[in-house]
Amino acid sequence: MRSRGSRDDMNCKYVSISVKDSSIGLFKLILFLIIFVVGVVIGLLSNSHVDRFFQLQTQQFYGNQTIWHESGYINVTVSCPVIPKCDKEDCLSMGNFLAPKNLSHRMMDNELFWRASLVPSKTEYPYVRKPKVAFMFLTRGPLPFLPLWERFFTGQSREMYSIYVHAVPGFELDVTNTSAFYRRQIPSQKVKWGTVSLFDAERRLLANALLDFSNERFILLSESCIPVHNFPTVYKYLTESQHSFVQSYDDPSRYGRGRYSRQMLPDIHLRDWRKGSQWFELSRSLAVGIVSDTKYYTLFKKHCLPACYPDEHYLPTYIQKLYGSLNSNRSVTYVDWSKGGPHPAAFTAENITEGFIQYIRNNGTLCPYNFDQTRICYLFARKFGPSALEPLLNLSLKVMGF
Ligand SMILES: *[C@@H]1O[C@H](CO)[C@@H](O)[C@H](O)[C@H]1NC(C)=O
Ligand SMILES: *[C@@H]1O[C@H](CO)[C@@H](O)[C@H](O)[C@H]1NC(C)=O
Ligand SMILES: *[C@@H]1O[C@H](CO)[C@@H](O)[C@H](O)[C@H]1NC(C)=O
Ligand SMILES: *[C@@H]1O[C@H](CO)[C@@H](O)[C@H](O)[C@H]1NC(C)=O
Ligand SMILES: *[C@@H]1O[C@H](CO)[C@@H](O)[C@H](O)[C@H]1NC(C)=O
Ligand SMILES: *[C@@H]1O[C@H](CO)[C@@H](O)[C@H](O)[C@H]1NC(C)=O
Ligand SMILES: *[C@@H]1O[C@H](CO)[C@@H](O)[C@H](O)[C@H]1NC(C)=O
Ligand SMILES: *[C@@H]1O[C@H](CO)[C@@H](O)[C@H](O)[C@H]1NC(C)=O
Repeated sequence: MRSRGSRDDMNCKYVSISVKDSSIGLFKLILFLIIFVVGVVIGLLSNSHVDRFFQLQTQQFYGNQTIWHESGYINVTVSCPVIPKCDKEDCLSMGNFLAPKNLSHRMMDNELFWRASLVPSKTEYPYVRKPKVAFMFLTRGPLPFLPLWERFFTGQSREMYSIYVHAVPGFELDVTNTSAFYRRQIPSQKVKWGTVSLFDAERRLLANALLDFSNERFILLSESCIPVHNFPTVYKYLTESQHSFVQSYDDPSRYGRGRYSRQMLPDIHLRDWRKGSQWFELSRSLAVGIVSDTKYYTLFKKHCLPACYPDEHYLPTYIQKLYGSLNSNRSVTYVDWSKGGPHPAAFTAENITEGFIQYIRNNGTLCPYNFDQTRICYLFARKFGPSALEPLLNLSLKVMGF
């Protein structure tokens, strides 16, 4: 028997297309669909409990679905108004294609990564393409240094930068509509530190940023990161660099090579194994390479389990193997490991002095840059506690130039 039922709710249309067990009547099916939809609506309303499981469910609503019903599996087709109404707006306009105006979308990660991996094969652009720097914030909740970042971006052209924020699901950044961070949150998922879900969030940030064809450089930042140079310096340094800035080194200790698994053979040998900070800076071509990778990602997901941490090894190893000559192998984000232990030094209000910030900006050593050398080694620094905000605001203009 072929049974049909339909229901409109949440702007979605659910149509059952086939039922295996012929004993089910139309009534039972409709009843089931009502319960299903009501459950979905209740779930959506209780947004304080938006967990990963539920997110997956909502994101899988489109297209043909096989769902479990007491009578057996049934197939339903769900169609939502994902196709925008084009009577008022030109939906195929270049503007909409080149940079999404609205960062919220309902793409699944695999759909998002596929879109983000698209590269035009025509070399000339049909528009004036000014390279942008994408500032990607991976944060749990609020950004304590928001006022400092706002100052950093003040007066800068939006054609030169874009901001992306991945926070815990349900968290909303509280900013006014004049803020550079207004409506810059991307659809997020739960992150468990130390697992591959942390790197998934980093890939999600990259992929969302790649949807803007003008983004050329991609910098990953956390809530405890601060800029130590002004925007024009950062922009010039990154857009003119011939290399990406991903720390990548061979650590012979048990915290480096000791985390390698022979099960990654024959694709990854011990000699390929690298370690580095997760706070990367990437050119567009490397960013595309990272969202496009399935082979190495899968190996790490399977075989890099605690005490191996994918966020410390995947990127340094993958880039070394495939794009070694395009990487500077150093980070542009300062961090102090000198005290030892598993966590870097955290700086609070009493540590903030003009001398300390000057030391990060330029400590007298030279760093390699475009086959030459530069006095600027770091553009950003971590880890700073919220109490550091006020003293930093006090000296930002004098010391950091913004
Ligand atoms: C549901 O769809 C799947 C894939 O399209 C198909 O293999 C399966 O037989 C269908 N199930 C029923 C009950 O029609
Ligand atoms: C969904 O199923 C219907 C009926 O079997 C079919 O005509 C349609 O092409 C399917 N759509 C997708 C996206 O698979
Ligand atoms: C952005 O898109 C989402 C759905 O993808 C929609 O709910 C929201 O209203 C849109 N926001 C704006 C400002 O257009
Ligand atoms: C920003 O918000 C203010 C008040 O909240 C409102 O008056 C103004 O129209 C808004 N501007 C834009 C561009 O949405
Ligand atoms: C970074 O390391 C790779 C591989 O070890 C090497 O090929 C490359 O030349 C290094 N980059 C620089 C700028 O030295
Ligand atoms: C920060 O300042 C405190 C108090 O002066 C000091 O104990 C601590 O060692 C400093 N931290 C760092 C990382 O320098
Ligand atoms: C300055 O910074 C560089 C790069 O981090 C480091 O290698 C060097 O030891 C530092 N020099 C001093 C004097 O602290
Ligand atoms: C910041 O500057 C203000 C005004 O100059 C001063 O009152 C305040 O004590 C300063 N705060 C810090 C932490 O230096």
